[in-house]
Amino acid sequence: MNSKVDGPRRGRSFDSMNTCFEEKHLNNEMNKSVFSKIEENKDNKNLSSERSRAEIIFSLKNEVGGLLKTLKLFQENHVNLVHIESRKSKRRNSEFEIFVDCDSEQEQLNEIIQLLQKRVKVINMNAPDNSCLPEEDLVDVPWFPKKISDLDKCANRVLMYGSDLDAEHPGFKDNVYRKRRKYFADLALSYKHGDPIPRIEFTEEEVKTWGVVYRELSNLYPTHACREYLKNLPLLATYCDCREDNIPQLEDVSRFLKERTGFTIRPVAGYLSPRDFLAGLAFRVFHCTQYVRHSSDPLYTPEPDTCHELLGHVPLLAEPSFAQFSQEIGLASLGASDDSVQKLATCYFFTVEFGLCKQEGKLRAYGAGLLSSISELKHALSGNARIMPFDPKTTCKQECLITTFQDVYFMSDSFEEAKVKMREFAKTIKRPFTVHYNPYTQSVDVLKDTPSILSIVEELRHELDIVGDALSRLNEQLGL
Ligand SMILES: [Fe+2]
Repeated sequence: MNSKVDGPRRGRSFDSMNTCFEEKHLNNEMNKSVFSKIEENKDNKNLSSERSRAEIIFSLKNEVGGLLKTLKLFQENHVNLVHIESRKSKRRNSEFEIFVDCDSEQEQLNEIIQLLQKRVKVINMNAPDNSCLPEEDLVDVPWFPKKISDLDKCANRVLMYGSDLDAEHPGFKDNVYRKRRKYFADLALSYKHGDPIPRIEFTEEEVKTWGVVYRELSNLYPTHACREYLKNLPLLATYCDCREDNIPQLEDVSRFLKERTGFTIRPVAGYLSPRDFLAGLAFRVFHCTQYVRHSSDPLYTPEPDTCHELLGHVPLLAEPSFAQFSQEIGLASLGASDDSVQKLATCYFFTVEFGLCKQEGKLRAYGAGLLSSISELKHALSGNARIMPFDPKTTCKQECLITTFQDVYFMSDSFEEAKVKMREFAKTIKRPFTVHYNPYTQSVDVLKDTPSILSIVEELRHELDIVGDALSRLNEQLGL
């Protein structure tokens, strides 16, 4: 549905509903049918008391009889047309657009709206309050969490590792490590939304492993990490006791992020499916592992561990524009097809995990996979790596490599630029509805009917009032 729908105002013209109206070209067949119908309306004294109005713009191919055929749908469904206009399509030369203002019983209006959606291209609609997408349009939509506590239903569907390590894992033959991993997996699997994240007493060996990673990476950050990362990293030390000899507790990190950007942490046992992981981002929830990589090779891990989460992800999750970018990818994934989720996950991989940006003419890393990997961070900025501009349409086709360096890295000028590109890309994803995050209830509203859209419009009006008020006060102070 077009976002230009702005409320149940009536009697508006084609101009006000959808930009300026340049040319009216009602043809004879249309005049006859439409205006006779309008006349019928005037004379109809037996109209039901439960009547509604709907304004609809649809487009038709420029062919003889096409309009008549469509208008007959209104007649056959006993929907009265009180106003009608036409204009050449600005989108396609071979089409023209029709604006109709209908007056009928709500049930009939709903029927005609559903019929139009099946037969013609509906461009814009301001429909009666109970109009909504046909339920059958939502039947094939994959399940997705609607409120933050729904994450309890999908946060435990761990795809890889968890407590079962494969033969290639550095800790496969280490029974003590495997037992420890089971301990972390059990903690994550029994976690429920709202619980405090269990505090961990890390072993001496785990702290030592963390310390090696922390020290090596800290040497690289000043010349390799983006400025937002460098700004936020010291805050982790201040608020979460992040030091070379201390692994921060996820509960402290979660509270810190909540205050900065509204993000919270949820412990997870291992790799989630892209769909389940991205769903968490929609609610500003970041799934974090809590275990430490195997001590035999502190500079390598085949899977995300707490070093990767804390040193790679957390500093940027504390950055508002990055947090917004992450959430938008998550929201776009809700209810999307498997193919679309895969494309979004690939874009996520090459931005949030392996993204590069240019700052003061120098290449810098913002991806957590880079910022937590000494060798790949050096490689990506060495001048030998292949770097392309981030463009979701092409980036989404790139293969994600897990056990080797990436073949190519994607660069954005800023998170803002990446966000704008992702937003445009998200619009191309086929989904019969749009979702809107409600921060008060920590839930997503599915925008599939007029009331849900109108409530967002009301919110926006209120926000604009605040902006207007702030501007006028500022002008007063400045004497403008
Ligand atoms: Fe990650």
